[in-house]
Amino acid sequence: MSTPPSALTSPAVTVGSALHSSSAINAAISAIRTELAAKQQLITEARPAQAEHKATLASWLARATEVRGRGPLYPYLGSGIGNGALVELIDGSVKWDLINGIGVHMFGHGDLDIVEASLRASLGDLVMQGNLQFNAEAIEFAEFLALEAARSSRLKHCFITNSGCMANEAALKVCQQKTNAAPRIIAFSDCFMGRSTTMSQIGDTSAYRQGIALNIHVDYLPFYDADMGQRSIDMGLWHLEQLIHRYPGQHCCLIAELVQGEGGFNTAPREFFVGLFEAAKKAGIPIWDDEVQTFGRTETMFCFERLDLGQYIDVVTIGKISQACACLYTQEFNPRAGLLSGTFAASTSAFATGLCALRRLQNDGYYGSSGKIAKLFEAFKQHADAFIAKHPEWFPPVVNSLGRASRTFVGGSGGMMRLTPFGGNKEKIGRLLNNLFEDGVIAFSAGHGPYHLRFLPAVGVMKPEQFTSVFAIMEKSFARTT
Ligand SMILES: Cc1ncc(COP(=O)(O)O)c(C=O)c1O
Repeated sequence: MSTPPSALTSPAVTVGSALHSSSAINAAISAIRTELAAKQQLITEARPAQAEHKATLASWLARATEVRGRGPLYPYLGSGIGNGALVELIDGSVKWDLINGIGVHMFGHGDLDIVEASLRASLGDLVMQGNLQFNAEAIEFAEFLALEAARSSRLKHCFITNSGCMANEAALKVCQQKTNAAPRIIAFSDCFMGRSTTMSQIGDTSAYRQGIALNIHVDYLPFYDADMGQRSIDMGLWHLEQLIHRYPGQHCCLIAELVQGEGGFNTAPREFFVGLFEAAKKAGIPIWDDEVQTFGRTETMFCFERLDLGQYIDVVTIGKISQACACLYTQEFNPRAGLLSGTFAASTSAFATGLCALRRLQNDGYYGSSGKIAKLFEAFKQHADAFIAKHPEWFPPVVNSLGRASRTFVGGSGGMMRLTPFGGNKEKIGRLLNNLFEDGVIAFSAGHGPYHLRFLPAVGVMKPEQFTSVFAIMEKSFARTT
C-alpha cells in the first residue's frame, strides 16, 4: 500500500481545497509564525516567578481547586507560550518542561510547524471528527500508523480513539471477542493502562483500585529484573506456565508494556519477551502490546520494532505524542461490526498536529541507535552519571521490592529517562519534585517503591546541551531537599 497524496495539498478542485491553498491564508499564517517566533526569543532560560503575577496564579489555582474539588498536582498554569523545552507560566516564571503532560508534547511548547498545522486544521468545518463524520485527516492519520506498524509486524488495521484508555478498552474487547470471551487477563506487576473501571483493575497500583467493584480476573507475572538476569527470565516463564496450567483456555490476552511507564521505566531484553510470547501463543493467548507511553519515544517509532518482536504482536495501542490515540490489530483480529465505535475519534487539530509530529519524527533523523533520541538519552545519562559521581551522598543504594540493594541509579530508554536518588524514598522524592518545580524543572515520579524521578522530555526539540542548565537547577533543588 503506498501513501495517497494529502487532500490538503491536492490541486484546487473543490472550494475546500481552494480555501486550504489560499494565498491570503498562507500570508496570514506566515505572519503569525513570524510574530510567534519573535515573542519566543524572549524565552531562553528558566526564571523565577514575578512578584506581581504570583497572586494571579494563586487565584487561578484556587478556582481550579474549587471547581474540581481537589487541588492540582503542581501549581502549574501556562501563560500560553513556550519555546521548545521551556514553558512560561502565568506567574511569569519559565521552567524546563521535562514531563510534558506525561509525554504528550513531543515538540515542546509553541513549535512553529505544529502551530501552523493546528491553524490550518482550525479552518476545517469539523472541530471534532468521529465514526460517522470525518474528513481526510482521520484517514491519513490511521493510514500513517497502519503503514508504520506493518513495516515489521502483521498489524494491518487501525481504530482511532480519543484517549489511551479507550484504545486499551478497544484492544481488550478485540482480544475477548477473538477468544470467545475468555474471562482472564495476564498482565505484569506494576503495569499501568488507564483509568476506566476495567483498566484501573488491570493496572497494578493499589490506590487506583480502591473503592471500585472488582469484576476482572487478572493474573500478574513478575516483570524483568536486571539484577537477576537469566533467573528473572526463567522465573517469568515458570509463572506463565503455572497460569496456563491452572486456567487452560481461560485467558483472553497477555498484555505487556515493553518499557513500563508508570511502573518505573523498567526495561527488559528481547529474550524475556520472546520466551513469554512464544509460550502464550502456543497456548492460544493473544499478545497485546500497550505502547501508549512508549510510542514514538524509543529508538524506533513502535517499541516492538526495536526489540524485533513484531511477529508476535496481535494488537497494539498507542497514544500521547500522537495527539489522537489508536488500537491497531492484525487482519485475523479485525473484530465483527458493532464492537468498536464512538461519537468522537479526535479533533481535526489533533489529527493534523499528530501527523505533523509523526512525519517529522519519521523523516528527520530521530530513530536508530545513533538518531537524535538515542543521543538525547546518552546526554542525559552522561550528565546523570557525572551528577551522581559529584554527589554520592544523594545516591545511597536502592532497595528493590525483593529486598535487594542495587547501585543502578539511571535507567530508561530513549525519551523515557529515570534517576533514582534518596534510595527511592517516596516522601523525599515528592519533596524534591516540589523543589524542582519551584526552581524551574518540571518532572514527575514513577514506580511503586522504589520511587524514581521520571523525565519525558520534548525529544523532538530538546537539545543535548540543554541538560547542562537542567542539572545546574537540579543541584540546587537536591541540596535543599531534606
Ligand atoms: C502504558 C499506558 N497505557 C495507557 C495509558 C492511558 O492513557 P490515557 O491517559 O490517554 O487514557 C497510559 C497513560 O499514562 C499509559 O502510560
